[in-house]
Amino acid sequence: GPASGCPVGGGAVGGGPEPALFSWEFASDPYPAYAWLREHAPVHRTRLPSGVEAWLVTRYPDARQALADQRLSKNPAHHAEPGKTGIPGERSAGLMTHLLNIDPPDHTRLRRLVAKAFTPRRVAAFAPRVRELTDRLIDGFAERGSADLIHEFAFPLPIYAICDMLGVPAEDQDDFRDWAGMMIRHGGGPRGGVARSVKKIRGYLAELIHRKREELRRDDGGGDDLISGLIRASDHGDHLTEAEAVAMCFVLLFAGFETTVNLIGNGAHALLRHPEQRARLQSSLAAGETGLLETGIEELLRYDGPVELATWRYATADLVIGGQPIPAGDPVLVVLAAADRDPERFAAPDVLDLGRQDNQHLGYGHGIHYCLGAPLARLEGRTALERLLTRLPDLRLGADPDELRWRGGLIMRGLRTLPVEFTPSAPPHH
Ligand code: HEM
Repeated sequence: GPASGCPVGGGAVGGGPEPALFSWEFASDPYPAYAWLREHAPVHRTRLPSGVEAWLVTRYPDARQALADQRLSKNPAHHAEPGKTGIPGERSAGLMTHLLNIDPPDHTRLRRLVAKAFTPRRVAAFAPRVRELTDRLIDGFAERGSADLIHEFAFPLPIYAICDMLGVPAEDQDDFRDWAGMMIRHGGGPRGGVARSVKKIRGYLAELIHRKREELRRDDGGGDDLISGLIRASDHGDHLTEAEAVAMCFVLLFAGFETTVNLIGNGAHALLRHPEQRARLQSSLAAGETGLLETGIEELLRYDGPVELATWRYATADLVIGGQPIPAGDPVLVVLAAADRDPERFAAPDVLDLGRQDNQHLGYGHGIHYCLGAPLARLEGRTALERLLTRLPDLRLGADPDELRWRGGLIMRGLRTLPVEFTPSAPPHH
């Protein structure tokens, strides 16, 4: 049901009155409303669909500054009405102490430990595996001539990738996929389902971590997976506790899953809606170049990124953002999608230009909480789009663009389905 997308009345955009935020029209194209806010109410207090009141920050310089402002805490205890935000089930399941919910010095300590395991080198070594997963998923529908790119491609790729990377055995990955799917499907919907799957994931991760710890103890050396890396990681003799390791795996999973689904989904959608940019990318790939693919992924993140609003922040003191006083205890939501279309920062911000050079977008955030998984996300995004366009060169939208439905969640922006058509092709020899 339209749990988080309930219309709150129509409103004109442009120079007119305040647009309706969080309505159905808003979910399919929030950018005109964000342009209005940037111009007329750049730091704007609003009531969210959940009933919680929060400040929306929409201009690029204010957004960047707010993301780096340590007086804005990530700890929900600083909310004047604690308990009103966060992932349902997370609190009761004891998963609160993860990177996105904590401040220095705890954040500094945990981030340093995970950075020792989640290295660019480990991600780079994973490239052949991501390509194999991607091709296997395309094999699943290449002969059919049509597919839903969300359910058959964008959705399974990141969950299998993160499972592989963590070291979840192949036979458990489908269970994992179902639980993680519940977190997306019911985001903003019935809360019981989410809480149940969060609990299942937590129980499973705790057991897996315990097993890996035993394995490491038995044969020193141990596995090359990320969980074994996390257990081994040490900083001046400091290690992750069992509970911290569980919370860390959980944050890797939920921070790295729906985001990447949406990078692939929003990215493929933007390419299909901009034939000249897509043709440009295809001919550069055919010429064996990767430069445009690299700048292109960044541009797709800026143009229609997966994370519409950065995760919650709370004022720990009375402060001022963009001239607007904000009282202590108020939640502040930085609207990355609005900042990344700020005409004061980006030339022709509403134009998709895969070769855009000056592109310091905020799609991965900024400051100490900058996305830890950016190298993995880039690898998955690049591989997914490159393989799709190479293997299905005449890929086209299989639905009227106006019929596409977007999920109405608060933080993330992504499509429910993305039907495509193409000339069927025989699977290649493996
Ligand atoms: C943090 C975006 C993929 C793990 C963040 C933040 C953003 C972001 C905006 C900062 C949130 C804030 O400050 O409130 C994205 C996007 C992705 C992506 C757009 C895909 C295109 C991933 C992946 C992983 C991951 C694949 C890991 C497997 C994390 C973690 C944090 C984070 C652990 C918290 C870091 C901290 O608090 O220190 N991400 N992310 N992300 N991301 Fe990503």
